[in-house]
Amino acid sequence: MKRISSVELVRVSKRYGDVVAVDNLSLTIAEGEFFSLLGPSGCGKTTTLRLIGGLEQPDAGDVLIDGEVVTDLPPYERNSNIVFQNYALFPHLTIENNIAFGLRLKSRRVAEPEVARLVAEALELVHLEGYGARRPNQLSGGQQQRVALARALVLRPKVLLLDEPLGALDRKLRKAMQIELRRIQHEVNITFIYVTHDQDEAMSMSDRVAVMRNGNFEQLGTPREIFQTPRTRFVADFMGASNIFSGRVVALGAGAARGASGRTIQIETESGLRVISSDGQGRSAGAAVEFSIRPEAVQVFPRDRDWIADNKFEATIVGKLYLGDVTELEVALGDDNSISSRIQSSIDQKFGFKEGDRVSIGWNAEDCNLLSSGSDTTRC
Ligand SMILES: Nc1ncnc2c1ncn2[C@@H]1O[C@H](COP(=O)(O)OP(=O)(O)OP(=O)(O)O)[C@@H](O)[C@H]1O
Ligand SMILES: [Mg+2]
Repeated sequence: MKRISSVELVRVSKRYGDVVAVDNLSLTIAEGEFFSLLGPSGCGKTTTLRLIGGLEQPDAGDVLIDGEVVTDLPPYERNSNIVFQNYALFPHLTIENNIAFGLRLKSRRVAEPEVARLVAEALELVHLEGYGARRPNQLSGGQQQRVALARALVLRPKVLLLDEPLGALDRKLRKAMQIELRRIQHEVNITFIYVTHDQDEAMSMSDRVAVMRNGNFEQLGTPREIFQTPRTRFVADFMGASNIFSGRVVALGAGAARGASGRTIQIETESGLRVISSDGQGRSAGAAVEFSIRPEAVQVFPRDRDWIADNKFEATIVGKLYLGDVTELEVALGDDNSISSRIQSSIDQKFGFKEGDRVSIGWNAEDCNLLSSGSDTTRC
């Protein structure tokens, strides 16, 4: 029979005293999926992972792995394994023996020649051939994390649960390990459920991402959907779409915006900006709306430049932050509005922008991302 889901949560809740850590959460993860739980500290990511792995018992609801209810099974009877941020390797055992540990447990009864073969295969998988005889303190942080991965994968779980596994590594190593993790996941074709509070990490590796807030999902989708079309202020803010405006719909089908798809609407913000937005289906005249604009969608040009955008304004640069390949400009439009723009540093250099400059800024109708009115309506 064809399996449809690898992991399923059915209205799962978990409280600690007054704190509802996981709140009536339902979720279906497909076999072989790389699924990330993303969100700020305390939103319930680790608790969700521990509930799947059996390290916590839910107060309500069910956990299914491979179509079977495992809610009451202990961790070792579930077909899952967990990798933590702090590696949790045995310091007195060699790398080989660390990886072999689970295979040698009595319950598994794996014969020694087979243990040796599986350990060698696992070392090869994480590119650590030749390191088997060392002890953990003779390896770098990144190498230790690979050992932790190998130790979990050698047992061939159906589901691998990873709780901020790269949190202790420096930026460069983290990037390298992200690529490694993705490669390994493709190679072993095991379902990965990955917890992180780092949006770049979630974006770069996942098939799907769930943004968590207060023990439930605020939005669930592909990395691109979450990044480009956050549905709530919370997700927009968390994903770094720092320009969020509130206003009202003042006209429907306002003008033929260039390239804009769907029905166009005209919005007047609380501070009096008139903005054209696409994708206004279902919005009626007079309705309150919120929208976000990603900083990289906001273009900035010298005032005398001739250029086209659906929404164009005169503005003043009030702040500038050099970030290496990109530069962030804080731009004021009148007294009550300011907006962040992220431009290539080469463009900033070309125009020589500086604080106090009067400039022309703008963005297109399709760069306005309309947000839902409340998070409850968008619960997944
Ligand atoms: N054992 C516990 N006892 C009491 N409260 C707990 C316990 N574990 C978690 N909590 C609470 O449950 C909520 C969710 O915690 P959880 O560890 O799942 O968050 P998280 O999203 O993993 O956060 P972080 O990014 O900081 O690791 C928090 O308010 C936390 O304080
Ligand atoms: Mg956590």
